[in-house]
Amino acid sequence: MALTVVELEQQRVLMTTHLSRSPLQVYGSEVQLQQVVLNLILNALDAMCAGDQVLRRLAITSEVVRTDYLVVSVEDTGPGIATEDMDKVFNAFFTTKDKGMGMGLAICRSIIHAHGGQLYVMPARYGGATFVFTLPGVG
Ligand SMILES: Nc1ncnc2c1ncn2[C@@H]1O[C@H](COP(=O)(O)OP(=O)(O)OP(=O)(O)O)[C@@H](O)[C@H]1O
Ligand SMILES: [Mg+2]
Repeated sequence: MALTVVELEQQRVLMTTHLSRSPLQVYGSEVQLQQVVLNLILNALDAMCAGDQVLRRLAITSEVVRTDYLVVSVEDTGPGIATEDMDKVFNAFFTTKDKGMGMGLAICRSIIHAHGGQLYVMPARYGGATFVFTLPGVG
């Protein structure tokens, strides 16, 4: 999140976090997991800043479920994803951006799968997108 502070300010996006207070140890690559969160945040910024959207909010939450599962969500107030594209966004080379590669989410999903978790998307309140990933705790 710290890596995007400048972008958030430039693009007038308000980020709120609601993070779990009880820590959960997960096994994995710190750099890869950082890449996942960074990709999700950058996608959210792209989505909210593409149009003349006034409400630009990014909400990040983490929660420990059943004491052994971490659930992280990244929710934006952008235009959201069309129902027919909901599955396609994770495909390699699927992009709706002029300069997009369409690799971000495909890489995110393979990283999360390699860590024993799941990555999916659902419609957010106010019409945006909510990306959610899970990670199993150690033990
Ligand atoms: N938060 C979001 N809101 C709306 N659409 C999204 C969001 N995140 C992803 N998408 C859609 O999913 C597509 C694929 O995203 P993905 O990150 O895989 O590739 P990209 O951002 O287009 O390019 P890059 O390879 O540079 O990440 C995007 O082009 C966009 O259409
Ligand atoms: Mg991307």
